[in-house]
Amino acid sequence: MNYRKLGRTGLRISRFVLGTMQMGWIVNEEDSFKLLDAALEAGITTLDTADVYSKWGEGSYAGKSEEIIGRWFNDRGNRDDLVLATKVRGEMSEKPNDAGLSRTHILSSADRSLNRLQTEWIDLYQSHSFDSDVPQEETLRAYTKLVEDGVVNYIGASNFAAAELVESFWVSDKYGLARYESLQPPYSLARRRDYEKHLEPVIKKHDLGVINYSPLGGGFLTGRYTKDSTPDSKRAQTITTRYAKERNFRIVESLKEIAEAHHATVPQIALAWVLARETVTAPIIGVNSIDQLNQNLRAFEITLSTDDFDRLNTVSDWEEMDFMAR
Ligand SMILES: NC(=O)c1ccc[n+]([C@@H]2O[C@H](COP(=O)([O-])OP(=O)(O)OC[C@H]3O[C@@H](n4cnc5c(N)ncnc54)[C@H](OP(=O)(O)O)[C@@H]3O)[C@@H](O)[C@H]2O)c1
Repeated sequence: MNYRKLGRTGLRISRFVLGTMQMGWIVNEEDSFKLLDAALEAGITTLDTADVYSKWGEGSYAGKSEEIIGRWFNDRGNRDDLVLATKVRGEMSEKPNDAGLSRTHILSSADRSLNRLQTEWIDLYQSHSFDSDVPQEETLRAYTKLVEDGVVNYIGASNFAAAELVESFWVSDKYGLARYESLQPPYSLARRRDYEKHLEPVIKKHDLGVINYSPLGGGFLTGRYTKDSTPDSKRAQTITTRYAKERNFRIVESLKEIAEAHHATVPQIALAWVLARETVTAPIIGVNSIDQLNQNLRAFEITLSTDDFDRLNTVSDWEEMDFMAR
C-alpha cells in the first residue's frame, strides 16, 4: 500500500480510503469488523464515515456506522494506527438545530461523534455538503475552536461547488481561521464533468487533498448492471436511477474489453483509471465483502496503456458533450 500527503498538510493517508457508509445496514457489525480488520491488514489506514451513516434500511439509524467503528477501535485497541475522517451537516433528528453547519450543530455533533467513535480526536472533520443558510465565517469559527481544543486535526469539505470552496478560503484567510484542506467530491468515469471542469482548477491552485467518493459509481462501473437486469444490491434502485444511461453502458462496455485484455475485472480497471488522476489523493472505496476488497486492491497492480486511457477518456468525454450543446 502507498501513502500520500493530504494536500498541503503533513497528514499521510493510504492510497485507498475505506468507506463505511454500508456498515450497519448492508453489512452487519460482525462482518464490518472483519472488513475493517482485512482493510487494515492490507495497509488501508484511513477510514471515512459520517454522523448520518447509516440511517437507511431496517434496524439502522444515524450514528450506527460511527458506533461500529468506535466498538472496533475499542475492541482492537488500534485507534492510533488509523486516520479517521467523519462528517457533519446531515439531519440527525427532526429538532430544528440538529442539522446544518451552524456553530450550535457543529459543536454538539463533534461531541456526539467523539462519543460514538470512542476516541478523543477526529483526524479530518468534513462539512458533508454546503449550507447556504449559515455564513461560512460562523462555520469556520466553530471548526477553529475544535482545532484549538485539540479534538479535530484538519477540516475538509464535501460536495462543495468551486465558488463555495473559493469563498471559504477567502474567509479563512481574512479572519485567520482553519481552512478546508481536502475535498470529498464524487468522481469516476461516469461523473467527470464537475470535477474536471470546475473543481480541479481550484484544487490545483489551493493544493487541496482529494478523497473522492463513488469511484465505481456506487457499483454501476462493475459490469453488474445491464440494460435488462440489476444486481441483488440494496442500493440497486438508487444506482440505476442515477447511472443507467446509454453513455454509462458504453463506458462499461469499454471497461469490459480493456479488463479482458489485462486479465483483470471491470472494477479493477475503473479504479486504475481513477488512481491515475494526478489530483486524486485517494479514492474512497465502498466494499461489502472481503472478496470485493481483495479484488479492488489488485487495481494497484494494473498499468493502463496510453491506448486504454484514450479509449476510456473518449467514451466518457464531457468536453465533446459541452461543445455539442453550444
Ligand atoms: N460525501 C458524500 O456525500 C458521500 C456519498 C457517497 C459515499 N461517500 C463515501 O464514499 C464511500 C464509497 O462510496 P460508494 O459506496 O458509492 O463507492 P463505490 O466504490 O463507487 O461503490 C461501492 C459499491 O460497488 C460495489 N462493488 C465494489 N467493489 C466491487 C467488486 N469488486 N465487485 C462487484 N461489486 C463491487 C458494491 O455494491 P453492491 O455489492 O451493492 O453492488 C459496493 O457497495 C462510502 O462508503 C462513503 O464513505 C460519501
